[in-house]
Amino acid sequence: MAKNVFLFSVLLLAVVLSRDFLEIEGELYTIYTRSPPVSSPTNELLTLNIFHEGGDGGGPSECDNEYRSDDNLVVALSTGWFNHESRCNKSITISANGHNVVAMVVDECDSTMGCDSDHGYRPPCRNNIVDASRAVWEPLGVPGNNRGWSDA
Ligand SMILES: *[C@@H]1O[C@H](CO)[C@@H](O)[C@H](O)[C@H]1NC(C)=O
Repeated sequence: MAKNVFLFSVLLLAVVLSRDFLEIEGELYTIYTRSPPVSSPTNELLTLNIFHEGGDGGGPSECDNEYRSDDNLVVALSTGWFNHESRCNKSITISANGHNVVAMVVDECDSTMGCDSDHGYRPPCRNNIVDASRAVWEPLGVPGNNRGWSDA
């Protein structure tokens, strides 16, 4: 009996170890290094981010080490879409509810790390996040459907 429990535990551990997880204070978070292909609709999750100092974005923007006010049309993208800074300073078009907004990519929504001061103590991002400033949210209206984004 005890042997079965032991074998089961070993098996469970093997399954857990074979995927990439990050354990922070007892919580397991999946590490995503890739994001879904960009197509319309991408079915991304639009989240609100604060890019100024002391905001929930954590440190300054990854692309240029600057903070920004809520009036800037800027976004952070999940690690996979951010793609090692390859989308830094590039514009993307975000569509929702029949509205389009063009915003600049200035930061990464880290899908591999989180829960520290660098990441505003937020958990690691999922792989389909467009983390947008208030200025981006306003014209789109919430909640939205038929969402998507594309390179502009
Ligand atoms: C993005 O633009 C900023 C300021 O214009 C510049 O400092 C930075 O090097 C640029 N980053 C990339 C990856 O092109």
